[in-house]
Amino acid sequence: MYDFIKTEFIEPGVGLIRLNRPKELNALSPELMAELGAALVDFDADEAVGAIVITGNERAFAAGADIKAMANAGAIDMILDDPIDDWSQIHQITTPIIAAVSGHCLGGGCELAMSCDIIVASESARFGQPEINLGIIPGFGGTQRLTHAVGKGIAMEMVLAGRVLDAEEARHHDLVNHIYPLETYLDEALKLAAKIAAQAPLAARMGKEAVNQAFELRLAQGLTYERRLFQMLFATTDQKEGMAAFIEKRKPLWTGR
Ligand code: CAA
Repeated sequence: MYDFIKTEFIEPGVGLIRLNRPKELNALSPELMAELGAALVDFDADEAVGAIVITGNERAFAAGADIKAMANAGAIDMILDDPIDDWSQIHQITTPIIAAVSGHCLGGGCELAMSCDIIVASESARFGQPEINLGIIPGFGGTQRLTHAVGKGIAMEMVLAGRVLDAEEARHHDLVNHIYPLETYLDEALKLAAKIAAQAPLAARMGKEAVNQAFELRLAQGLTYERRLFQMLFATTDQKEGMAAFIEKRKPLWTGR
């Protein structure tokens, strides 16, 4: 059904998306990004899916936006037919998303990984924003999300000098949650996704929304936002079930309502 990605539903509750332009190191062409957006929207609308994993292959998560597709574009083209508009679809997705990263994770690839909620890496993962080598700067959050994640100094080195972080450095600088050997990193990402998918779905989605608001709002506003979501969850059947199950010393049975 797709040409540049592969999708799979993995029991219980995980939607897996593999970027699939291996010869181009999964360069993020407009066509690939359109497919990725469509797959994300489909999984997000599927109540059986409680978490999504985006991955590439061992050699590359993604080596960035497709340079060949934009080499001849002018500024007016980039404004009128802004490819980044389509990329932003990922930020509308309420289902938790894990990036399972191996190999090159550069430019738009790094920005895509940072647009996910959690990054799990293989030992060979390498993160960078090398746009400066092309005479441009990152255009999909690489100066913003990266700075939130790793701090100003490292972000400056990456954006201005093209510094690439290996997996250990990326974990040290809080870009990555976990590092696993090449053989197991995807399984571990899927395990973590399954663990999230096993939680009360509305609480997981609201937890994601609330944490993300920490980057948008000042503390007092963020605390109010969190409180409203917290209060709203008391309108759910799953809150009643979760607390009753705790009191009755049994496992909760979530209905997503
Ligand atoms: N766009 C288009 N094609 C790409 C690509 C990209 N971002 N990255 C790699 N490819 C292609 C190469 O052109 C090559 O294709 P051909 O075989 O047809 O020549 C193929 O993938 C394999 O790449 P290499 O031969 O270069 O592989 P390597 O192992 O020698 O080097 C690499 C790997 C260091 C990742 C190198 O490919 C590279 O530097 N790629 C570009 C990385 C980059 O600059 N990314 C930022 C893009 S701009 C961006 O993302 C903007 C934004 O913020 C939204």
